[in-house]
Amino acid sequence: MTILGIDIGGSGVKGAPVDTVRGELLEERFRVPTPQPATVESVVEAVAEVAEKFGDYDRVGITFPGVVVDGVTRSAANVDKSWLNAPAARLFTERLGKPATVLNDADAAGAAEVAFGAGRDQSGLIMMVTLGTGIGTALFLDGVLIPNTELGHLEIDGRDAELLASDRIREAKELSWDHWAPRVEKYLRHVEMLLAPRLFIIGGGVSKKSEKFFPLIDIRTPMVAATLLNNAGIIGAAVSAEQHPASLQVDAAAQAAKSEGTE
Ligand code: BGC
Repeated sequence: MTILGIDIGGSGVKGAPVDTVRGELLEERFRVPTPQPATVESVVEAVAEVAEKFGDYDRVGITFPGVVVDGVTRSAANVDKSWLNAPAARLFTERLGKPATVLNDADAAGAAEVAFGAGRDQSGLIMMVTLGTGIGTALFLDGVLIPNTELGHLEIDGRDAELLASDRIREAKELSWDHWAPRVEKYLRHVEMLLAPRLFIIGGGVSKKSEKFFPLIDIRTPMVAATLLNNAGIIGAAVSAEQHPASLQVDAAAQAAKSEGTE
């Protein structure tokens, strides 16, 4: 069975076929820019463009930068508001003509890191934190994901944490490492106080430069950089497509829509 993983990010939509046993890409990934505004329609087309690059495949897993419950997208902090309550799994399945499973981007990246990367063979409570356009979080207890923890939106000093410490804010405000790291430290200390995880895995593009800011962060919890870097989302999405077939999401979403009287 060939499974594609596709990662919808703030700046790019990237995908590749994935070896879900070894946690590796089978081909070089293909990327298109994330359409602006990132509406449902434009993003579905961008995903289709990426998928079409790879010929035949059986299933596809797709990450989304927001809450995803039963294949329905429930939040849209950094994408167009048309994603609120969109039946994403069904829309992708229909457009691609292949079963599509959808999950939160940080959950996907974390799942890949826990299975194949920095969180491998770790028990207890582990937290993935992605520092990118927003702050994404994923919690794992003994390797099992507790999905859709939106802890990047905790309030710190009266502000949404991702407006304080995301990598987008570092870039937008041209913060030096010395100025940005204390913001990340403040955020992680807050999370540590609330949840006391055994390990933080720090992901997002900036984790490639961990040597620039890790030494500036003083917290109790051990902290490691993600090892799958930019491919974690793609790999985690494909693994999820293997474990949670799209039909389950599409059926669950249809049921939910019926009971809410929206269809
Ligand atoms: C969203 C999360 C997402 C994170 C990273 C946040 O703004 O609410 O769902 O995981 O950004 O993309």
